Amino acid sequence: MTTYSKIVGTGSYLPAKRVTNHELAAQLAEQGIETSDEWIVTRSGISARHYAEPDQLSSDLALQAAQRALEAAGMQPNDIDLIIMATSTPDHLGGFPSTACVVQRKLGITNGAPAMDVQAVCSGFVYAMSVADSFIKSGAHKNVLVIGAEVFSRILDFKDRTTCVLFGDGAGAIVMSASQEPGVLATKLHADGSHGHILCVPGSVNNGTVAGSAYLYMDGPAVFKLAVSLLDKVAREALEAARMQSTEVDWLVPHQANIRIMQGTAKKMGLPLEKMVVTVAEHGNTSAASIPLALDQAVRDGRIQPGHTVMMEGVGGGFTWGAVLVRM
Ligand SMILES: CC(C)(COP(=O)(O)OP(=O)(O)OC[C@H]1O[C@@H](n2cnc3c(N)ncnc32)[C@H](O)[C@@H]1OP(=O)(O)O)[C@@H](O)C(=O)NCCC(=O)NCCS
Repeated sequence: MTTYSKIVGTGSYLPAKRVTNHELAAQLAEQGIETSDEWIVTRSGISARHYAEPDQLSSDLALQAAQRALEAAGMQPNDIDLIIMATSTPDHLGGFPSTACVVQRKLGITNGAPAMDVQAVCSGFVYAMSVADSFIKSGAHKNVLVIGAEVFSRILDFKDRTTCVLFGDGAGAIVMSASQEPGVLATKLHADGSHGHILCVPGSVNNGTVAGSAYLYMDGPAVFKLAVSLLDKVAREALEAARMQSTEVDWLVPHQANIRIMQGTAKKMGLPLEKMVVTVAEHGNTSAASIPLALDQAVRDGRIQPGHTVMMEGVGGGFTWGAVLVRM
């Protein structure tokens, strides 16, 4: 009998501190940097974002989201036999110990479940889901905790108005379990390292100091152009792999980077905008956390129901992009 992987619980967490465009514009104005609510909303669709407290790490946000996903799945931490964490803002410099291992400890998982981070920036969650799906289908693991968590505010240069207004912090998580019914219907992942320079943190650590910039750099217009052309294509590839039409998709849960990119993708796919889950206005771009945050919100408010077909897709630094088609 075929084994599928199925989402059996979702959870998410946003840090308490909410900063509106008006508040951010006022803070930036004090440093002589000009921006406005009108510019940010018109160009990106973002009205507010949440920022973690200085002592909150990605693992802290991840812990809250994971606990909620476990509760929704009706599971205890030690029921989990694999943890996959998507983050580009890991707790530790160099990424080790992995933030997944930190979350394992904070959740109190003592069963030796393997834990690893996946780095694909804003595509991280679809990458992590695809890895979880493969492990479950292979029979190696049964209950996988998949998390996307970020504290992007730590790598934002608040002197660069072209980037600092766009990102926020948050976490989302799902539990994926082995099931006799689908589940994940198709996954498609891609990368093209030749575009690495248009969205990156250029610096590196050498001899105990940072060489180059430790801040996020983005060529916004170049990213925009690439994203629009890639997302519709990868969503179609996933549909084709599942032998389905876009008309069979109940919900599009895209990476929440920019409302114009999201609307463009929905339009190209022939999906009415009412079928798209949108959280970018309130969350900003939370990178690997944005898809599970949006998914959890739509599950909890009752829009996404068991049996619905959901397309998740994202694009991010690397360049990376991918799509996961699931039946809830
Ligand atoms: C970043 C982005 C919103 C910029 O929008 P845009 O329409 O391309 O704007 P541009 O970068 O061409 O800048 C237009 C003008 O606005 C100005 N500007 C940039 N940021 C600004 C801000 N926060 N406030 C006010 N003005 C700003 C620029 O300096 C420029 O001024 P100029 O014409 O005098 O030089 C857009 O390119 C984008 O969304 N890109 C994709 C980002 C993304 O999705 N990233 C994540 C991928 S995972």
